[in-house]
Amino acid sequence: ISSHLGKKPKILVSRDLGPNVMPLLTQRGDIEVVLWTQNSACDRKWLLDNVKGATGIVVMITDLVDTELLDAAGPDLKVVSTMSVGYEHINVPELGKRHIRIGYTPDVLTDAVADIAVMLALMAGRNANGTMGIVRDGLWPRTIWAPFALCGPQLSTFGSLSSTRTIGFLGFGRISQATLARLVPFGITDCIYVSNPSSSSSKKERNRIRDQNLLEQYQPQLKSLRAVDKDALARESDVLFVLTPGGPSTKHLVNEQFLQKMKKHSVLINVGRGSVVDAMALAKALDKGWIFGAGVDVLEGEPNIERDHPLVHTKCNILPHIGSATFETRLAMATLAVDNCLAGVAGGTMPTELDT
Ligand code: DGY
Repeated sequence: ISSHLGKKPKILVSRDLGPNVMPLLTQRGDIEVVLWTQNSACDRKWLLDNVKGATGIVVMITDLVDTELLDAAGPDLKVVSTMSVGYEHINVPELGKRHIRIGYTPDVLTDAVADIAVMLALMAGRNANGTMGIVRDGLWPRTIWAPFALCGPQLSTFGSLSSTRTIGFLGFGRISQATLARLVPFGITDCIYVSNPSSSSSKKERNRIRDQNLLEQYQPQLKSLRAVDKDALARESDVLFVLTPGGPSTKHLVNEQFLQKMKKHSVLINVGRGSVVDAMALAKALDKGWIFGAGVDVLEGEPNIERDHPLVHTKCNILPHIGSATFETRLAMATLAVDNCLAGVAGGTMPTELDT
C-alpha cells in the first residue's frame, strides 16, 4: 500500500477482531491502524473523533455509516468494509455519490444462518420455548402425559403421514436456498417464494433459470418450486422463512393482514432482518392463535429488547441475533472484512465488493 504525501494510510477498526485477524492489519508496516479496544459497541463520539483522515474503515452492524461519519472522515476515505452481509447501517447511495467503495461479507455466513433457520423451524413447530419453560419452572411433575398434549406440527414428512409441507420463503437468495437444501432430506416436496421486492426483470429471468437448476438438483424429492405473490405465500406456507434484506422497501411486509392469512398450524421464522416483521402483529398472531408458532433471530428495535417486550411474553422462540455466530463463520467474516478493506485502500480488487 503506497503512502500519500509521506503519510501511511489510516485504517480505523471499530471492534477488536481477535488474535487471528488483527495481525493482518497490525503486523503490516505500511498502514496506521486505529482500533476501538473496548469490549463494547464502538462509541459514536470516539468514532467521529478518530475517523478523521481515514482511508479505510472496518465497521460492524452496530455502527451507523451516515453523512455525519463520512463528513467527519473527510476526502481521503476510499473504502468502508462491514463485517456483515447486511448493509442497512450504511447509507449506500451517499457512499456511491462520494465514490467510496463498500466491502461486505456474503457467502461465508450462508451455512451458519441456514443452520439456525432450520433450528428455529424445529423449535417453533415443537414449541421448544413453551415446553422447556415447563421444565425450567418445575412444572414437569404436574404435566400429565396425554395423547395430544404438547403436540405441534411436524416438519418432516415422508408420505407416511399422508400430508405434505409447503415451505415458503420471503426472499429467495443464497441463505434461503441453503435452507431449502437442508429441508429436502426432511421430505419436503413443495417450495414457494417471493423474490426480493427490489429484483429487476433481468434478475427475474436469472431466477427462472436458477429455479430450473435447483429443481433438477433436488429431484426426485422436490416436486415443485414456484414464485408466488405475497398473498399466496401467506396462505400456502406451512413453514415460512423471512430471509429478505431490511430497509424501507421491506419494512413490515409481514404485518397483521399477512399473519391473519396464514394457516393456523403454520410457523413463521425470521432470520433476515427484524424490520420486515411487525413484532406487535406477531405477538398478536401468537396470542390469538392465527399461527402455531414462531422463531426469530432478529427483532425490530434490537438490541433494545427488554423483558416487558410483548413478544417476549409469547411462545415465540427468540434468539439475540446469533445467526452467524459460529467460531468458524465469525473468523471467516472478520478475515474477509479486513481483506476487503486492505484491497480497497490499495485500490485493488476487493474479494466481495457491494455493487452500488
Ligand atoms: C449480517 O452479517 O448481516 C448478520 O445479520 C450479522 O451477523
